[in-house]
Amino acid sequence: MDLQLNGKRALVTGSSSGLGEATVRALAAEGVAVVVHGRDERRSHAVAASIRANGGKADVAIGDLTGDEGADAVVSAALAGGPVDILVNNAGSYKHLSWADATPETWRDTYEGNVVSGVRMIQRLVPLMRERGWGRVITIGGGLAVQPMYQHPQYNATLAARHNLEVSLARELRGTGVTSNVVAPGAILVDAVRDLLTEIAPAHGWGETWAQIERDATRELVPNDVERLGRPEEIASAVAFLASPLSGYISGAVLRVDGGHIRNVA
Ligand SMILES: NC(=O)c1ccc[n+]([C@@H]2O[C@H](COP(=O)([O-])OP(=O)(O)OC[C@H]3O[C@@H](n4cnc5c(N)ncnc54)[C@H](OP(=O)(O)O)[C@@H]3O)[C@@H](O)[C@H]2O)c1
Repeated sequence: MDLQLNGKRALVTGSSSGLGEATVRALAAEGVAVVVHGRDERRSHAVAASIRANGGKADVAIGDLTGDEGADAVVSAALAGGPVDILVNNAGSYKHLSWADATPETWRDTYEGNVVSGVRMIQRLVPLMRERGWGRVITIGGGLAVQPMYQHPQYNATLAARHNLEVSLARELRGTGVTSNVVAPGAILVDAVRDLLTEIAPAHGWGETWAQIERDATRELVPNDVERLGRPEEIASAVAFLASPLSGYISGAVLRVDGGHIRNVA
């Protein structure tokens, strides 16, 4: 299927690694000119260089999105190469904390980094999409938004806020040609997830090889119908579809990519 993305331009925040990196690679393979973003200059430039080496188009924008200054720098670098048709709000971070260890300051910082960061991008880029009469805003949410765990409550709550604000944005964008949707991953195998599971495996008796650890950790922590963790490329495919003109009748939706971990039917 031709996703009709050729010639579009996309900024994917937090694409120096993980899900964001897989997303810029997938979009670039569909002919999208991508802007790779991160705080880490070396990793961001390496991702962009590798996309260009494969025949794709990639610029770089560096900046911390927890403040207006960083957000301004990212937007101005992104717009220097042309308009942004597609914004993927993916940047975010996560700390494995208990209720006792997550201080009010950690709650505030997590909200700033995972929620207000995306709002900064929306407020700077969506008015320009509106003027052009076409655009896509895709936010990376997560199953923890609707099925939170007792751990890392400060993180769960930011995913819920992301789901909520993207539906509100869809209503705000009524009739403009710009849509707003959420892709909600389950547990996806990025480096940090592999490191964490490997570290806690002995205490849980999950086996010695990575294959055993993935199988047992999936059953215990994120049971799902596919019986494994997700892969970053599987999130990227969902984002590419929602970014495409083919998704024009989808707005305010949540597309779960979690192997069926979340059990509700809505
Ligand atoms: N992996 C999962 O299982 C999973 C599941 C559900 C949702 N998510 C969400 O998916 C997103 C990506 O996660 P990931 O697993 O791919 O993690 P990751 O590999 O650690 O990637 C996080 C990205 O966000 C960037 N970033 C973090 N804080 C930032 C800030 N304040 N300003 C600018 N950039 C910032 C990082 O940039 P630098 O490293 O260059 O600083 C990096 O590119 C996150 O929002 C996470 O909440 C992940």
